[in-house]
Amino acid sequence: MTEQGSPRQQGNNLDPWYHHYAQRTSGLAASEVRALFAVASRPEVVSLAGGMPYVAALPDDLVVGAMDRVMREQGPVALQYGSGQGVPALREQILDVMALEGISGSADDVIVTTGSQHALELFSKLFIDPGDVVLAEGPSYVTAMVIFRSYQAEVDHVPMDEHGLIPEALREHIARLKAAGRRVKFLYTVPTFHNPAGVTLSWERRLEILEIARQNDILVLEDNPYGLLYFGDKPPAAMRSVERDGVVYLGTFSKTLAPGFRVGWALAPHAIREKLILANEAAVLSPSSFSQLVISEYLRNADWRGQIDTFRGVYRERKEAMISALQEHLPELSWTNPNGGFYVWLTLPPHLDSKAMLPRAVTELVAYTPGTAFYGDGSGAQNIRLSFCYPTPENIKVGVRRLANVINGEQDLLDTFAGTGPLSAPRISRTSPNPPTDLR
Ligand SMILES: Cc1ncc(COP(=O)(O)O)c(C=O)c1O
Repeated sequence: MTEQGSPRQQGNNLDPWYHHYAQRTSGLAASEVRALFAVASRPEVVSLAGGMPYVAALPDDLVVGAMDRVMREQGPVALQYGSGQGVPALREQILDVMALEGISGSADDVIVTTGSQHALELFSKLFIDPGDVVLAEGPSYVTAMVIFRSYQAEVDHVPMDEHGLIPEALREHIARLKAAGRRVKFLYTVPTFHNPAGVTLSWERRLEILEIARQNDILVLEDNPYGLLYFGDKPPAAMRSVERDGVVYLGTFSKTLAPGFRVGWALAPHAIREKLILANEAAVLSPSSFSQLVISEYLRNADWRGQIDTFRGVYRERKEAMISALQEHLPELSWTNPNGGFYVWLTLPPHLDSKAMLPRAVTELVAYTPGTAFYGDGSGAQNIRLSFCYPTPENIKVGVRRLANVINGEQDLLDTFAGTGPLSAPRISRTSPNPPTDLR
């Protein structure tokens, strides 16, 4: 029962505990487009919105066989709590996975986490004080920004172009922030097959950015879920391959095996590794022993490299379906053409707003993620993230055709009202060729 004048009465009608929450929860708001996505999950809607891997390309027997062997041979260990750092055998195998991206390290410096999402959370808990600045690409992975903000950091977006983060812009941002007396804690980057932009940081820029970070005493948080999912040539080696002390590297089995296991990892310099283990223990005691042992068994007995090849083939075909559909239906627009990963970043004609357009798109049975989701500062209204990972190539073509109808419909509306009043906007040439991509 609530007494007159008790703290509960300071709440509101929806939540009597409103005033009890910690200040840091103020950044924890449900996305404005969440309700629409509930509609978008209906089967008649082609969703180009989510980042769900196509786990159906993973043969059931590979997973079932690994689970069966784990339970028969190591059941009591699999069902028990484990170490806060992770299963030693799996940490050794993770070294083999990272070696494919040029990384060498010690299993002692690997911490297994509950997906790389949890590694982002633990890292943020260790490093962010309220008011700190986190540098990140503009646009940036939405759920990393949710975590950074939940620790009361401000995300400062550094622009990218088709070769990834622009080193000169990074220098300018750091100089401006320093001049303003702001404390920059780290640079969060997804250098390979970026989510959401689909671009890859060139090798030269990787080196330059590491040098800038070194000069300015800024730690680099390299998040690399997609690096092994390339469609043609291998991407440049990971930034961690050249810099041990200044980079914390995050990997995951979510995209190369399955996200349902919730197993990712961090590779960190010794001192940071130690703190990450303590934070992991405080948060979950230990990551799932069962999931770790199943993955370890899978890596030991299955052709996991061949399975990654299979995933590459699936995603390459879907990416090509998306690009050819864009060329066919929206030839006057520009988009990124990724060499791997899950995402294409589309630029709309000026004056169209991707968030405002989403309800109309869902009505026309296609969903996407508006660009505004990937910025903390309200930018991105002229962009859309399209994911090609989950729908079949046929559905991707249908989805892009529907999207083109939506965009052309919105454009026609603008054209109709051009010069006639508040809705007026300059007429856009429909005949201009596909302009060069610039993510700024
Ligand atoms: C850039 C990036 N980082 C981290 C994650 C989280 O992955 P996990 O399933 O390992 O938690 C994702 C998932 O989409 C991602 O795109």
